[in-house]
Amino acid sequence: MAVRSHGGLLIFFLFSLLNGHSVEASHQIYRRLQTTAAASSPLDHQPYRTGYHFQPPKNLINGPMIYEGIYHLFYQYNPNGVVWGPPVWAHSTSTDLVNWMSQEIAISSSIPSDINGCWSGSATMLPGQKPAILYTGINPENQQVQNLAVPKNLSDRYLREWVKPAVNPLMVPTTVNEINASSFRDPTTAWLLPDKHWRVVIGNKRDQGHRGMALLYRSKDFIHWVKAKHPLHSAKGTGMWECPDFYPVYVDSLLGADTSTVGPSVKHVLKESLDDTKHEFYMIGSYDIRKDIYTPDKGSVEGDSGLRYDYGKYYASKTFYDESTRRRILLGWVNESSSTADDMKKGWSGIHAIPRTILLDEYGKQLVQWPIKEIEMLREKPIDLSGKLIKQGSLIEVPIITAAQADVEISFRLTKLTNVEKFDPSWTDPQLLCSRKEAMVQGGVGPFGLLTLASKGLEEYTAIFFRVFKSRDKHMVLMCSDQSRSSLNPTNDKTTYGTFVDVDPIHGELSLRTLIDHSVVESFGAMGKNCITARIYPTLAIDDNAHLYAFNYGTEKVEITRLTAWRMKKAHIN
Ligand SMILES: *[C@@H]1O[C@H](CO)[C@@H](O)[C@H](O)[C@H]1NC(C)=O
Ligand SMILES: *[C@@H]1O[C@H](CO)[C@@H](O)[C@H](O)[C@H]1NC(C)=O
Ligand SMILES: *[C@@H]1O[C@H](CO)[C@@H](O)[C@H](O)[C@H]1NC(C)=O
Repeated sequence: MAVRSHGGLLIFFLFSLLNGHSVEASHQIYRRLQTTAAASSPLDHQPYRTGYHFQPPKNLINGPMIYEGIYHLFYQYNPNGVVWGPPVWAHSTSTDLVNWMSQEIAISSSIPSDINGCWSGSATMLPGQKPAILYTGINPENQQVQNLAVPKNLSDRYLREWVKPAVNPLMVPTTVNEINASSFRDPTTAWLLPDKHWRVVIGNKRDQGHRGMALLYRSKDFIHWVKAKHPLHSAKGTGMWECPDFYPVYVDSLLGADTSTVGPSVKHVLKESLDDTKHEFYMIGSYDIRKDIYTPDKGSVEGDSGLRYDYGKYYASKTFYDESTRRRILLGWVNESSSTADDMKKGWSGIHAIPRTILLDEYGKQLVQWPIKEIEMLREKPIDLSGKLIKQGSLIEVPIITAAQADVEISFRLTKLTNVEKFDPSWTDPQLLCSRKEAMVQGGVGPFGLLTLASKGLEEYTAIFFRVFKSRDKHMVLMCSDQSRSSLNPTNDKTTYGTFVDVDPIHGELSLRTLIDHSVVESFGAMGKNCITARIYPTLAIDDNAHLYAFNYGTEKVEITRLTAWRMKKAHIN
């Protein structure tokens, strides 16, 4: 719920502009963190503070873009900290998407149509390299309306000051257009079609809130917007769509596509953040520009059990097209899994996942994601254990110095696929299967994988692993992130996450990359086909007392064809 004012705070925004064209943004809302006077002082030991994940000093975050060679990240922020106040767009800049410098607040309440807060939105690059931000404001009647902000001085590459043209608001809910004034938010990056009209999509719901939809607006001049008769797309039973994102991906290229790219060389992705479940899902499909309608590919699942960028904690994400490197980059917000009391004690809440490059998978059925290559500049002191065999029921330690702040790449070859567990067709929920068959439950082929943030005596660990099953006609590969033993603190949310990976384990290897950063473990299975992000708060496995192991608790041997682990340097963040 983006915009309720009870409770607390925030949303954030991410947004991005691009060197050449579009910019995008997103938003997020968060409601519980009210930083209190009891918040920790900077001198307190902070074992859960991340070393290379973006995190604001307090409160919530969001968003990226690039303008004149500088990346911009905007995020929702409550400047009042202790008490509720209208959220603003805070701003950080970077030249590498790894190290960030804080800038002054970009957008804050100053006009009637945003007097109750500047909520999420997106940036678009207008012709002539002119960035423009569309964002949701809350007006004095507590209605959600859409506003425009533009940079004051285009010669300032840091885009420090933003102004709001007098025409605001640009889009409002009325009885004529029948838009529910409390469910009308989060404009996407706009795109320009050959008919010279801009399009933008805004999150909404209908039918007593059961049908989520992406409302479509058109404009010739970016100022006057007219609602299209039909939404771009809608789906029943999905509830409010927050932070929609709509963009093309090339079918036959490893490059990213600008938001306005259309035609047979691309497919279109539509992503929604579901307010009801706090999960995101996306679809691959076609965009018919004549009818202005989006049609998901046959077999697409719409809603909570559809395809997800991430099967763990990940919400309010947004992509942007980085024209300088021709990549589409995904940014997402990662919520805490600790209790509100613990959040208040540490004085901050919410981090950003490491930015990911997004591509369409070679079979065109899903996306693949990979941490941006710039993050590798933080790697140092590699440990290589490639070529080892892990015997059944055993584990080997990876003797890395800072296992609490590391990057690990491991690949497994399955030497024998004889003793494979049978797959029961009633196992339709991979997350449930992972919690039933957690890391210490012996299998045939698997579980094998990594124990991260582990204490010496294994009182605490977070396990990321695979388990292979045999169904009637094929092998099923389950990927799990098991948080059940992640901390001796009983108040954390230790939900185990899981997903089926669409790979053939017989031919080729099964790979896993895991980014570990004190209280976050981000895992990329099968070269980025399936990702799981988890938040964990160990009490023993902190700082130098954190260990890293590779393990195999199946009855069959597995071979490690590659294992390299690096400690990660700290990034400069704000
Ligand atoms: C615009 O920004 C440029 C670069 O920072 C600066 O030199 C110039 O003085 C600014 N102009 C105004 C009117 O502030
Ligand atoms: C509008 O949305 C709000 C918030 O979800 C909901 O409580 C209300 O019932 C909706 N109004 C109508 C007329 O559907
Ligand atoms: C954040 O995480 C908490 C604890 O797991 C959960 O209760 C809450 O719904 C999450 N909020 C969002 C916005 O994801």
